[in-house]
Amino acid sequence: MPNRRRLVSSGTFWYHASQEVIGVKVTYGGHACFLVENRGTSLIIDPFLTGNPVATIKPESVKVSYVLVTHAHEDHLGDAVAIAKRNDATFISTYEVAQLAASQGVRVHGMHIGGKYAFPFGAVRVTLALHGSGVAGGHACGFVVDLFGQKLYHAGDTGLYSDLKLLNGELERDIDVALLPIGGNYTMTLDDAGVAASWVRPRIVIPMHYNTWPLIAADPREFKARVERATAGTEVRILKPGESTEL
Ligand code: NI
Ligand code: MN
Repeated sequence: MPNRRRLVSSGTFWYHASQEVIGVKVTYGGHACFLVENRGTSLIIDPFLTGNPVATIKPESVKVSYVLVTHAHEDHLGDAVAIAKRNDATFISTYEVAQLAASQGVRVHGMHIGGKYAFPFGAVRVTLALHGSGVAGGHACGFVVDLFGQKLYHAGDTGLYSDLKLLNGELERDIDVALLPIGGNYTMTLDDAGVAASWVRPRIVIPMHYNTWPLIAADPREFKARVERATAGTEVRILKPGESTEL
């Protein structure tokens, strides 16, 4: 692992993360769900497990402090409210989606597109996602999560848009892992996701939102070959539902 020196903001104090950046463990829950753990802090993104034909993780077994949800379509909101309640976890999403969860008795932290907030584990930035929100007046989003100095970008459901370039430029840099949808129909195709990877230039890309149903069939090996041919320095890791990797 490269020993990158990076100043990390954690709430009210600053520290150099370089000495103790431990490999973040990323577990794929299938579809757009990822469990991310570092230094004893666990968070889950878009936990659609119940009713997900490819999921192997049981929602009752999920132990997390934070639940992040990109939008309120059922294949993303999924088990989020139940998991947040069972774990007394904080539910993070755009304001309207957060209000939906709050109305069901969950502790929420509402944010919005372009906003950034320093949580105890690091900063979360809410990014644009070109997609429906699933709740009236709401917006779909993606997240850049800095988990103790390791930077993860979850694109949510989105079509390709050129401001993704800002994640390797003015807004953010040095994304360690990008989680990109490749299944088409509702989101980027694998061709479009290859362009996104070339713009964001993360160290690692993990494809998501494919092969859950026939409508979003895609070959992740084809995606891997294209990205690794076209984008120097970016590795594609294909995870099966239930599999983990360390960054
Ligand atoms: Ni959606
Ligand atoms: Mn979706």
